[in-house]
Amino acid sequence: MDKKRVAVLISGRGSNMTALIEAAKGSEYPAEVALVLSNRPDAAGLAHARSEGLATAIVDHTAHGKDREAFERALAGVLDGHRVDLVCLAGFMRILTPWFVERFAGRLINIHPALLPAFKGLDTHARALAAGATMHGATVHFVVPEMDSGPIIVQGSVPVRAGDTAEALAARVLKVEHRIYPFALRLVAQGRARLVDGRCEIDGVASEHGILIAPEI
Ligand code: GRF
Repeated sequence: MDKKRVAVLISGRGSNMTALIEAAKGSEYPAEVALVLSNRPDAAGLAHARSEGLATAIVDHTAHGKDREAFERALAGVLDGHRVDLVCLAGFMRILTPWFVERFAGRLINIHPALLPAFKGLDTHARALAAGATMHGATVHFVVPEMDSGPIIVQGSVPVRAGDTAEALAARVLKVEHRIYPFALRLVAQGRARLVDGRCEIDGVASEHGILIAPEI
């Protein structure tokens, strides 16, 4: 099988990166992790990637001051050097310019810890609680220039429980993230999920006619 070469971009702990690495170990999985790249030299996920014997790279954004495009040109150069087909943002805490996003259009995906388009940005779990949401979850989407706004590939949801703290909710959502990110990458790597005219087209996924309501009563 001709596996797609994937770069996973991180800034921190890297638990989604680990989920992708584990999935990619499967012989039938259509993607391999060709590179783990961090903008922060101290990202904890780097050590895990190295322990897995994967190629790692650091492109430190602080070396480029306020020049976002210079940082991104360096980033793109490293990705090209590793002949990367697809890029997965996994807790990568840099806003990307339209230049970078267009360069990787349709090949750049992100995971966001909320059911987009609700709760774009940061502190999603606390905001979901404050809003009184009864459902929360995570979204994998194609990246477009506007933050957390790209066409949705996969979402997974969890109920919000009485007495939930932001931490408890975050932990429940994180388990969903670790399931949906490998699934979404599989669809993109197979070419079954594609960015077409600003929308996500998906082939061959059975349509579900069930509904999901929380709380259960
Ligand atoms: C995840 O919640 C992800 O959705 C968000 O940042 C967090 C990264 O966690 N974009 P990890 O580094 O993958 O553990």
